Amino acid sequence: MRILWTTLLMACAAACTQPANKSVPETIEPDEAHIALAETLTPADPTLAPIYDRSCRACHALDGLGAPLTGHAAAWAPRLEERGMEGLLGSIHAGRGAMPSMGYCADCTDDNFRALIEFMSTEGQS
Ligand code: HEC
Repeated sequence: MRILWTTLLMACAAACTQPANKSVPETIEPDEAHIALAETLTPADPTLAPIYDRSCRACHALDGLGAPLTGHAAAWAPRLEERGMEGLLGSIHAGRGAMPSMGYCADCTDDNFRALIEFMSTEGQS
């Protein structure tokens, strides 16, 4: 069922031309494989890896905090679809839900954040 939902969601992300679809659930629960995967992923970029480890990993590699997990593309797709890259950047600046403003990275640049979002929202990328 989850696989079917993921497939439908990916198909919609590619094909739907409607901008904000309010019926898309905001939180997509990860399965065991995604929870295990999130624990192992680290950005390949040597500048980004330490930033991710000290600032984002604590919440985005741990299930149950309400954060979309790193490498779980289906959980990121509706967020990217609804707010776009710049909208997600704005969420980090302002803080969102349990995420503090700047996601515990006060000295991060917007380019750092964009690269982190790309890394975290891509399925299984290391
Ligand atoms: C203290 C925990 C915590 C930390 C640290 C944290 N996040 Fe988050 N993040 C969350 C939670 C929880 C959400 C889901 C918020 C919601 O939609 O209710 C989230 C959501 C996001 C989103 C999606 C925002 C949206 O508009 O949907 C992005 C992008 C993001 N985090 C990036 C980052 C980055 C990059 C870092 C590291 C620099 C980081 N986060 C650090 C907890 C955290």
